[in-house]
Amino acid sequence: MNRATPKVTVVGSLNIDLVCHAIRKPDKGETIIGDAFDIFTGGKGFNQAAAAARLGADVALVGSIGSDPFGDLLRTAIKNEQINSRFITRRMDIGTGVATIVVEPDGDNSIIVVPRANMALTTADIDTAADCIADTDVLLLQLETPIAASEHAAAIAKQHGAIVVLNPAPAQPLPDSLLGYVDILTPNQSETELLSGMPINSHEDACRAAEILRGRMVDTENSAVVLTLGGQGTLMLTETTSELIPALLVQPVDTTGAGDAFCGALATALASGENLQSAVEFANAAGAAAVTVIGATPSMPTRTKVERLLKSRK
Ligand code: RIB
Repeated sequence: MNRATPKVTVVGSLNIDLVCHAIRKPDKGETIIGDAFDIFTGGKGFNQAAAAARLGADVALVGSIGSDPFGDLLRTAIKNEQINSRFITRRMDIGTGVATIVVEPDGDNSIIVVPRANMALTTADIDTAADCIADTDVLLLQLETPIAASEHAAAIAKQHGAIVVLNPAPAQPLPDSLLGYVDILTPNQSETELLSGMPINSHEDACRAAEILRGRMVDTENSAVVLTLGGQGTLMLTETTSELIPALLVQPVDTTGAGDAFCGALATALASGENLQSAVEFANAAGAAAVTVIGATPSMPTRTKVERLLKSRK
């Protein structure tokens, strides 16, 4: 679809992130003293929606939150990001999703997500947003909400010619019925290992695993596996090419949400009509920008920041 502002619809999670900064994760049975504490908005769905909105897309988010103060925080944040909130359902009987996160001094993170209201998202909620999904350029999905809802949304999007992007995080086995609608899959290394059933110890392994996954996806001219390999870069595998796009070198302070910045940027670039290679380069820069800022949603970069980083690389 050719329009002035690219349209991205995200079906996904909204969480409140409770973040402890500490020298390391505690061992089993151990209590340690942390250095700092933050409360941020998060959830892979909301982060990716915020990234796409900050990068210039017209974004709608389909999701589910509780009627509690955490839900209020997210409502305000959605409004501040100028994301369409019409398809956010508030549940009376269950609390808003939460994530407890430990960030270590090198920026690495460990996360426990308790999805709560996110898991209450139904196919009926998707039906309410059907017109919006049918009119979108890119539908962006993750795995913190029920697969049945994602699959239903993907079916509607595909029927109307949208590009379907699935970020298979957190890792879990996926039915072919969902993968059969997916044009672009964006796993990291551990997600690729789980989904392909093979360990990745070399570039050749990564290509082979990505090929296995691509074989389970919808067969379109767009279909590709975009495998994020952290500091090694991003492997882009299509029907005709396999290319490693190098990572941009930055000093990380918090890696939480880097994958979300990548996916939100990839979706925005694809929705704008960019080809896969330049979309992946743009997404790489967005992911790199995100690790230089503390917090998940706060680290989603603006277009100016991403473009400055891309320019500095040339
Ligand atoms: O990808 C980072 C996100 O994962 C955090 O914001 C947390 O809420 C979990 O969903």
